[in-house]
Amino acid sequence: MYLTKEEERTLRGEDGETLRKMIEILVALGDIYGADALIPIKSAQVSGVSYKTIGDAGIEWISDLNSTVKVPTVLNPAGMDMNNWERLGIDPAFAAKQIEIIKAFGRLGIDPKCTCTPYYLSGFDVQYKDHLAWGESSAISFSNSVLGARTNREGGPSALAAALLGKTPDYGYHKTENRKPSYEIIVDFETSGSDYGALGFVAGKMVGNKIPLFKLKSVPTHNEMKMLGAAMAASGAVALYHVDGVTPETKDKEFVYEKPPESVVIDQKDINAVYESAGGTGATGAQGAAGASVAAGAPGATGVAGATRSPNDIVTIGCPHCSKEELEQIASLLEGKTVVKEFWIFTAREVAEQNKTTVNRIEKSGAKVVCDTCMVVSPAANSYKSMLVNSGKAFAYVPSMCGLKATYGTVEKCVKDATGEI
Ligand code: F3S
Repeated sequence: MYLTKEEERTLRGEDGETLRKMIEILVALGDIYGADALIPIKSAQVSGVSYKTIGDAGIEWISDLNSTVKVPTVLNPAGMDMNNWERLGIDPAFAAKQIEIIKAFGRLGIDPKCTCTPYYLSGFDVQYKDHLAWGESSAISFSNSVLGARTNREGGPSALAAALLGKTPDYGYHKTENRKPSYEIIVDFETSGSDYGALGFVAGKMVGNKIPLFKLKSVPTHNEMKMLGAAMAASGAVALYHVDGVTPETKDKEFVYEKPPESVVIDQKDINAVYESAGGTGATGAQGAAGASVAAGAPGATGVAGATRSPNDIVTIGCPHCSKEELEQIASLLEGKTVVKEFWIFTAREVAEQNKTTVNRIEKSGAKVVCDTCMVVSPAANSYKSMLVNSGKAFAYVPSMCGLKATYGTVEKCVKDATGEI
């Protein structure tokens, strides 16, 4: 890989040990994947933030670094709400470690905003063809596909290295020739709302890490594409997809591509199967008995258990973190109702603060709007037995990451379940 004189100096350690280690990571990646140079990035998002996922080894690694980021950089969700961690019953020992992690990132000049939707943050705008180094899989998918920006699937160390150097190796999705669709998916029925998470869950399993081109009957919103991409990144390893006539590259006359060599039709029954199936049983065992609305002794339990027919003892929304519109929809659905079990809604702190009235309307029902974290990276949900989600990504990860059963439903169903209507 070609390095400039300054980059060579950094590699020799003349700009300090931290930057030497960081450029070594980028050069190694560039050599493996055939990059010819480092290119400037506009922003970075660093994953590997929750103490649940990085542990003490991660804290030690971050704490040893001594430099500051060169581009706006934010963090992936942490293991708890940083301002209100007691609310979901987080262990104080875990909280102390999580606070240490966020402080260590802060010393590197990273904005301690913990979200998988950095594209909602003010001052963090993403434009078509911007080069980024982002680390959270749904954010990568959204920026690549819906915004037409360019990022590889960065791991925690490579995103942090890119942030501290302001550069990334020019390979993979940074190159136009690597962004062309390789798998066509035809959806032959009208889709809306949570159908997109279910569609992504099914499609991700089919395509693995290929680049799907969707031919849809309906025109998806940004929120729907967010759910589609997040699910495909979890059930498969999709970092970029196109929706014919909707996503920016398919409308760019200079982005020329052939019909993909593989093609598949996804029909309604494939999607219905996701709504009807459970995501697997985790270590904590079988579904709770019908009528047991709140797990006994579960952290954060409201103690407002009601007798419902639903087997789910907790309901969560906000994977990826909710947008303003999604919060408004939940607030409207909850109007005049009271929850009978734990109902957690995850969003970015900045989005919650900008929509305080909506948050208050939601919380009036007893539901909790939680910032900085999510149902997957936080240990808060681990002692429940069965979680209802409206996210294909959460549906894929909750059983393996949290050890409880997951079921999939629409936002409307989540509200009905949480309020004891089903
Ligand atoms: Fe975000 Fe957590 Fe889902 S990081 S995409 S809410 S698993």
